[in-house]
Amino acid sequence: MQDLVTSTRTDTQDASAPAHAKHAGEVTREAARRRTFAVISHPDAGKSTLTEALALHAQVITEAGAVHGKAGRRSTVSDWMEMEKARGISITSAALQFEYDGHVINLVDTPGHSDFSEDTYRVLSAVDAAVMLVDAAKGLEPQTLKLFRVCKARGIPVITVINKWDRPGLDALALMEEIQNEIRLVPTPLTWPVGIAGDFRGVLDRRTGDYVAYQRTAGGATRAPEEWMGAEAAGLREGDPWFAAVEEAELLSSDGADHDQDLFLSGFTTPVLFASAISNFGVAMLLDTLVELAPPAAAFRHGEEQDGDGRPLQVRDVAAPFSAFVFKVQAGMDTNHRDRVAFARVCSGVFERGMVATHAQTGRPFATKYAQAIFGRERAVIDTAYPGDIVGLVNANALRIGDTIYLDEPVQFPPIATFAPEHFAVATAKDSGRFKQFRRGIDQLDGEGVVQVLRSDLRGNQSPVLAAVGPMQFEVAIARMESEFGAPIKLETLGYTQARRTDAASAAELDSVRGIEVMSRNDGTLLVLAPDKWRISVIERDHPDLTLEPLLAGDR
Ligand code: G4P
Repeated sequence: MQDLVTSTRTDTQDASAPAHAKHAGEVTREAARRRTFAVISHPDAGKSTLTEALALHAQVITEAGAVHGKAGRRSTVSDWMEMEKARGISITSAALQFEYDGHVINLVDTPGHSDFSEDTYRVLSAVDAAVMLVDAAKGLEPQTLKLFRVCKARGIPVITVINKWDRPGLDALALMEEIQNEIRLVPTPLTWPVGIAGDFRGVLDRRTGDYVAYQRTAGGATRAPEEWMGAEAAGLREGDPWFAAVEEAELLSSDGADHDQDLFLSGFTTPVLFASAISNFGVAMLLDTLVELAPPAAAFRHGEEQDGDGRPLQVRDVAAPFSAFVFKVQAGMDTNHRDRVAFARVCSGVFERGMVATHAQTGRPFATKYAQAIFGRERAVIDTAYPGDIVGLVNANALRIGDTIYLDEPVQFPPIATFAPEHFAVATAKDSGRFKQFRRGIDQLDGEGVVQVLRSDLRGNQSPVLAAVGPMQFEVAIARMESEFGAPIKLETLGYTQARRTDAASAAELDSVRGIEVMSRNDGTLLVLAPDKWRISVIERDHPDLTLEPLLAGDR
């Protein structure tokens, strides 16, 4: 993709200084102009349409429709797997980078289906902000509420976009109330719609009081022209819908729903925009909001020491030597080349292709010869990347999710927490003669986070338990074990729905409790599997001294 940004640097500093010190000013400048974010939404809210519209505005692609992974659409680029095509979902994630208004926007893709919400959760660990996309007709939907709450719990700044305002939908004030009640984020609309859902004429810019009138273009294929005018002209042109919008906007102000940058950055409030992604309404406003309000790439936390909320205290400044962490590993993206790509977010310093970094988990050197920007089917070589950028490291067989690579000053970022799986199944090789392939495949899927793999002495290595947040993860595992590793598997569902973390001391005692099972993950975590919450409560009541923790803080 020739439009992808590949920056070159200029060496003007003292040649005797260490490499990272030479680049410190440049890195700080580059980090400050990065905006790295992900769009989270429930399926069909319009994430792909919005991605296309954003890319169109930034003119990365010239024709809407070239990004999408939906079945039946022309030139879909993220359907590497047959299953994705058949279901019209996008499982694989990558990043789209483009320049806008002197800034570099990194849009990290997230899977469209809630069964893959754990992938989305991992993406959230690699971004500095999230755009929460809500369908105006449906409001917040239960299956994605969890992700929105994760943003709130982790203090990730969230910009809310109410989409499909061109279609009949819920009342705008009612939607604001829902966000406040369900996620406990205080909505502070930046714009307010003129015209009810289904009669979208434009928006009132609440900060200036101006009116932005939208004009339709055929099929939404080009940027929609916007017309800015003052309140008086707006009143004359639109009449009642304009006055209704002004009245509601005043009501919001008297309710304290005005934007406050500090409260937004600390995750208490969410600026709201109204849009119609399909007609390209409100898209430029979203880009402007990202540039103006979303935080730039900043220092990353690491280290053992923790603050009161259990967060590590040390930070790796963006100008420190190069470091990056892996938030996604994906194999089989290109059926012609059986490669394995580790997606890493640059946290500090300059990434330069060809550099030999250190893999923190093993202490081994890691050569970065093959680095790519990957979005859909498009790939471009990345020579240089800065904090906030996403680098696809090809053939990174040693790297697993959560791993760190660094240069010079050692650093290891904390592992990415996992969702509690809710579906469990014993996997066995259909053909016992292909056990080697079976084991290799299962390990690979584990390393990529396709499923969690649990083992116990009791069940043995021949029949690990696969654990998933959504059942579709199992379908991916079955398909890939057969097509990629030549080791078809049988899955036998287990009747558990709950998982809690425990420790070795408690595990010994829990082993003798009936109806539950203790298993271990590759990262050493011990999990207690139970059929239902009720069983967990009984154990907690009968054995108050035993450790039974939720996998994610606040997840019960
Ligand atoms: P997703 O990635 O979040 O799953 O959603 P996607 O963009 O695929 O959008 C889901 C459906 O909603 C699509 O219709 C899309 O055209 C439509 N859509 C997206 N944004 C808007 C909008 O602002 N207004 C209206 N009215 N519709 C919108 P579809 O019929 O499922 O697919 P297609 O035939 O249009 O491709």
